[in-house]
Amino acid sequence: MAFRITRLALSAFFAISIHGIATAADDEKKAAVASEEDGKYFDADGNPTFKIENGTVDWYTFSGYRRYHSDCHVCHGPDGMGSSYAPRLVESMKNLDYPTFISIVAEGRKNVGGGKENVMPAFGDNKNVYCYLDDIYVYLRARAVGAAPRGRPPKKADKPEAAKVHEASCMGG
Ligand code: HEC
Repeated sequence: MAFRITRLALSAFFAISIHGIATAADDEKKAAVASEEDGKYFDADGNPTFKIENGTVDWYTFSGYRRYHSDCHVCHGPDGMGSSYAPRLVESMKNLDYPTFISIVAEGRKNVGGGKENVMPAFGDNKNVYCYLDDIYVYLRARAVGAAPRGRPPKKADKPEAAKVHEASCMGG
């Protein structure tokens, strides 16, 4: 019996560590800019990322800072630092890939346990959020890998034409 339990524990341990290797935590190296499209930046895997140079953030990172602080910070705390109600996104984001982030924010999540119920609302029909999901993603990504300090970014790039076009069609459509 004791042997079986040990084997179970062991296989669970291996399952976790293999998973851990497959989804290595995000860091500045993984988030490095590999390509650019009209002022929007992407990493080597093609996922959106930030560009911060001499304190100047790209437009999307700045926009994400603003959107985060209008729709997310009440629960997740200023600058993604967390609260007693909702997780520290500066930590969570290290282990959330882009598609997972998008689906959690669009569909929401409910964690019922320990006698308390904490609810992450679904934002899939809130244009003020879903039209800016990539913006919020790159902002939080920059916070999580340690590239962006706390607070409002002091300098930002001009708003790219592509951002204006996307905004008009997403908000209007
Ligand atoms: C009403 C409070 C509330 C608001 C507003 C809110 N969240 Fe959450 N969020 C939560 C809670 C609570 C959880 C944890 C849910 C769980 O444990 O399953 C969570 C979980 C998450 C997670 C998963 C974190 C993890 O550790 O796995 C992400 C990502 C997230 N929220 C992003 C956002 C973003 C982006 C916004 C703004 C667009 C936002 N949240 C707004 C309460 C909120």
